Amino acid sequence: MLTPAQAKEAINVSIRSLQENDLAEARRVFRVAFGTFMGVPDPETFSADQEYIFTRWHADPGAALAAEVDGKLAGSNFATNWGSFGFFGPLTVRPELWDRHIAQALLAPTIDLFDQWGVREAGLFTFSHSPKHVGLYQKFGFWPRFLTVIMSKRVVARESSAAKYSALAGAGRTEVLSACRQLTDSIYEGLEVTSEIRAVSNQNLGDSVLLWGGDLLDAFAVCHCGEGTEAGRDTCYVKFAAVRPGPGAEKMFGHLLDACEALATERGLGCLEAGVNLSRSQAYRQMLQRGFRIDFQGVAMHRPDSPAYNRPDVFVLDDWR
Ligand SMILES: CC(C)(COP(=O)(O)OP(=O)(O)OC[C@H]1O[C@@H](n2cnc3c(N)ncnc32)[C@H](O)[C@@H]1OP(=O)(O)O)[C@@H](O)C(=O)NCCC(=O)NCCS
Repeated sequence: MLTPAQAKEAINVSIRSLQENDLAEARRVFRVAFGTFMGVPDPETFSADQEYIFTRWHADPGAALAAEVDGKLAGSNFATNWGSFGFFGPLTVRPELWDRHIAQALLAPTIDLFDQWGVREAGLFTFSHSPKHVGLYQKFGFWPRFLTVIMSKRVVARESSAAKYSALAGAGRTEVLSACRQLTDSIYEGLEVTSEIRAVSNQNLGDSVLLWGGDLLDAFAVCHCGEGTEAGRDTCYVKFAAVRPGPGAEKMFGHLLDACEALATERGLGCLEAGVNLSRSQAYRQMLQRGFRIDFQGVAMHRPDSPAYNRPDVFVLDDWR
């Protein structure tokens, strides 16, 4: 018996780079695809206050792929280069074209990008309850490991003495980027997220907070703030945060969360959101103790099936969405 996928006639898909003049349609497809999958009443309005497509394209246009069918955009995917680690998403396909192998046509060149970049390990975040999603990514060598939870708390007004990237210029910024690179390298060799710091700064998406211990950077967090960013209305979203490993890391993680909350306070935002992989158990426990609650959860899939920087003693916040 034919599966529903096999029963559908073959279509001609071509893959190319996503262009600036595709972005509005790519965003529409993104909304309608997620909105349809999640069963929201008006899919085109799904996550209308958040932005991924324009911002990720502007951060790295060469890492965005388009699928075209009959001269029209059928889907897109975005890869992210974090040095020795890479991830992809959002991956979306127009619902009327689902199960025609378009996602797979986008995934093959995505893996090629990871190979060209020389990433050691790659990952993604997906719906843990969906056999289709897990099965699709498994075909490309990604393996389901721990859950990643997206957590949030109401902001309690506070102040912090953390430094901010936005307050620096020229040489000061270069020094910070190199210190951030060194810090993430000490967690996972070659990991580097300075593209996120620069994207936030160049596109005015929020700010990055920095905690120094003398000349040494102890911790930093890259935050998106409010509508038109990955955070959305009234939210400060921690896109990536990391603490230097060592005996003081647990305490420093608390200071870092305070600094993020202070940034939210300063920006007048009522909600602080961050994702954490549950294998980073010490970080997760501390977030629970601090009153963060889980909004939703998915599974982190890894290629190959190894932990990368998802380990119990790692104080990193990110979710690979
Ligand atoms: C997820 C999404 C991108 C998939 O796109 P698609 O073009 O329909 O996917 P494809 O046709 O290329 O691949 C489907 C594959 O799913 C897998 N699959 C489907 N049902 C499965 C099941 N029950 N068990 C295991 N694997 C299954 C199969 O590998 C199948 O490929 P096959 O037909 O060759 O066997 C699309 O459905 C979408 O846009 N969804 C909404 C947004 C979203 O969820 N994005 C991804 C977030 S991580």
